[in-house]
Amino acid sequence: MELYVKKIRSGTVIDHISGGNALNVLRILNISGKEGHVVSVVMNVPSEKFGRKDIVKIESGELRPDEVDKIALIAPKATINIIRDYDVVEKKKVKLPMVIKGIVRCDNPSCISNAKEPVDSMFHTEEMDPLKIRCHFCGRIMEMPDVLKQF
Ligand code: CTP
Ligand code: ZN
Repeated sequence: MELYVKKIRSGTVIDHISGGNALNVLRILNISGKEGHVVSVVMNVPSEKFGRKDIVKIESGELRPDEVDKIALIAPKATINIIRDYDVVEKKKVKLPMVIKGIVRCDNPSCISNAKEPVDSMFHTEEMDPLKIRCHFCGRIMEMPDVLKQF
């Protein structure tokens, strides 16, 4: 592929984000730009596999596992590349777990997971792309826009 943004020395490259979703990935990772890391975003570049894809390059530390799970909610085909000294030292595909605990709040106000003494939220993955998750406690189905609202 033609290089749109130069290679980074170290950090994380989130590749194969479906076209137009890069800003949602930044949002779910809580990256606003105020943190001061160098962040590059490439949107809607042609991709052999997916038609159009977005890429996010973060020149800072590596992502925690819970952050990788969050990315899977928004970008189920994403690849996380860890870069050290210009080399890709680790490449992993995100994978949404079948059971998602504690990341997403249930939208149903009377769900037990939203009670005064809440139990931790828990969802079952029904579909990954487009996203469809089901609350373990009340059965509420949540989709990507419902999840994005929370971040
Ligand atoms: N990359 C980068 N800086 C580096 C090394 C790689 O920004 N020092 C980026 C590449 O531009 C690419 C991604 O990280 O977007 C993965 O790099 P690489 O594995 O070399 O590319 P591909 O083989 O095309 O990846 P894949 O097989 O996952 O499509
Ligand atoms: Zn619920």
